[in-house]
Amino acid sequence: MKKILVTGGAGYIGSHTVVELVEAGYEPIIIDNFSNTEERSLQGIADILGREVICHRIDCTDAAALRQVFEQETGIAGVIHFAAYKAVGESVAEPLKYYHNNVGSLVALLQVMEEFKVDKLVFSSSCTVYGIPAELPVTEQTPVQKANSPYGNTKKICEEILTDLATSGSDIHTIALRYFNPIGAHPSAKIGELPLGVPNNLVPFITQTAAGIRQELTIFGDDYDTQDGTCIRDYVHVVDLAKAHVVAIDRLLSGKADNIEFFNVGTGTGNTVLEAVQAFERATGEKLNYKIGPRRPGDVPKIYADVTKATEELGFKTTSTLEEAMKSAWDWQMHLQNTSEQV
Ligand code: UFG
Repeated sequence: MKKILVTGGAGYIGSHTVVELVEAGYEPIIIDNFSNTEERSLQGIADILGREVICHRIDCTDAAALRQVFEQETGIAGVIHFAAYKAVGESVAEPLKYYHNNVGSLVALLQVMEEFKVDKLVFSSSCTVYGIPAELPVTEQTPVQKANSPYGNTKKICEEILTDLATSGSDIHTIALRYFNPIGAHPSAKIGELPLGVPNNLVPFITQTAAGIRQELTIFGDDYDTQDGTCIRDYVHVVDLAKAHVVAIDRLLSGKADNIEFFNVGTGTGNTVLEAVQAFERATGEKLNYKIGPRRPGDVPKIYADVTKATEELGFKTTSTLEEAMKSAWDWQMHLQNTSEQV
């Protein structure tokens, strides 16, 4: 079994990807510093797989610690790099924390990969690199724009670093996946998103509101130029997104990939916030308490993906509907309620 190092493998997208890697016949090795996840995600992975996955508790900015992992885990075939901070608002308040962690960890990882001649990388990028796009849906050719947060800028800078590395003639081949809005949880409800404190993202806020942890959802603005006035996003089930990483690793290991390639990973369909709320209500039978509030500064009015490239070149396809994703998010919320106290 080919070993794949998964940084941030105990996190939200990472944990789902670890499960899919095992199911596809790979041997994932997790690196995580548990700064934004909990030990129980490892237990959830083990419960799904019926066995534990190796995890090294180190910080990815620590090149010496990374080196030790590469020494210990001989024969790493490729790396999937999830480890990063991701809170847009926090990044505005603490930019250095974001540049240090998100950019620093990539540079340290690439240096160690070069030292150990590990030359396949899947990088977690984001549709945030497109800013407010002039045309929809966005393709990989849609121009990258100035980021509107330090978080977004770290993704843009990391893409630039990887492009420079590819141009330099390095042996490292990279596939950067530009995620749209990942939602939902594993159908077993044993792993899912573990937001710390008040969630920033829509779906955990919805599920916590329906569960009575939050009083009501505020929909940020209903005066956008969309069918119902609320923002449009491309909500992709996290298991479908996880599978995109497996096919990206397959492509890298098959030797078919160029030095650097970018792929949008979404569903290809845009839904408004109100449509997302209605899908949640239909899927779960729960009535959501919500109100309309002012716009959230920095929000992109509408964005959704053209996924033709990922479909044709990676063989990527989504299998879950928005309702199914919402139902899985709700099942996960119920699992959390039953197994722990949330505040
Ligand atoms: N929303 C609400 N109320 C909430 C939370 C969100 O109405 O309480 C709305 C937002 O205004 C937006 C939509 O729900 O229209 C989705 O918001 P999220 O915060 O879930 O996701 P974003 O699209 O804002 O952010 C995502 C990722 C970021 C990334 C960004 C790039 O979470 O990491 O896409 O566009 F930077």
